[in-house]
Amino acid sequence: MKIDILSIFPEMFEGAFNESIIKRAIEDNKVEINIHNFRDYTEDSHNKVDDTPYGGGAGMVLMCQPIVDCLDSIRTDDSKVILLTPSGKTYNQQMAYDLSKEKHLIFICGHYEGFDERITNFIDMEISIGDYVLTGGEIPAMAIVDSIVRLIPGVIKEESHLEDSFNEDYLLDYPSYTKPRVFRGFEVPEVLISGDHKRIDEWRKEESLKRTKEKRPDLLER
Ligand code: ADE
Repeated sequence: MKIDILSIFPEMFEGAFNESIIKRAIEDNKVEINIHNFRDYTEDSHNKVDDTPYGGGAGMVLMCQPIVDCLDSIRTDDSKVILLTPSGKTYNQQMAYDLSKEKHLIFICGHYEGFDERITNFIDMEISIGDYVLTGGEIPAMAIVDSIVRLIPGVIKEESHLEDSFNEDYLLDYPSYTKPRVFRGFEVPEVLISGDHKRIDEWRKEESLKRTKEKRPDLLER
C-alpha cells in the first residue's frame, strides 16, 4: 500500500512513523508513506496557502490552489483522496478495514478555519476522528494511518486483530493479564492459570460481553 499525506507541518509526522510497528512495516515494504508540504505548491509570491474568508468572519481559510496542485502531482486512477475535517464521517474500525484494502490513500490535513469548500470537488471522502475540534488534521492522519497499517497482511499477527475490540461482533476486547500472578494484592483470575482452554475461551467471551455492557452499551444496540 502507498500512503501520501499533504500537510504544511510535515515535521509532525517524524516521531509517529519512526517507531515500533509502523516503522517496521515501512522497512519491510508493507507500506510506503510520503509526506508532502503543499506550501511548496503555492503560486503566491509570499508562499501563502490561506486567505481571509469571503463574507468576513474570524480566522483564515486554506486556498484550493496549493492543495489541488499538490494532489494533481501524486494522484492516479487507484488513489482514494480523504479530507480530514471535523465535519466528515466519524471514523471507526469498519472504515479502517475497508481502507486497509485500498492500493493508494491520500490524506489532506487542514488548519485554521478549514478549507475553501470547493476542495470537496477534488476528494473522495471526508473523515472526522470524533466530535471535537483539533488544531489540524495531522493527529487524525496519524491515528487513521496507524489503524490501517496494522491491518495490512503481515504487519502484525492476524490472530491479534481477529481479537480486536470493535470487530464484527461489536464487542470490546476481553481483559488481559501478565506476570506477576499477584500485584499489590490484586490476583490474576484463576481460570487463566487453569490451563483449561475451553474454560478460558468461555470466560473471555463472557468478559467481553460484560465489559461492553458496562463500558459501551451503545455498541450492543447495533
Ligand atoms: N481537524 C480538526 N479536527 C478534526 C477532527 N476531529 N477530525 C478530523 N480532522 C480534524
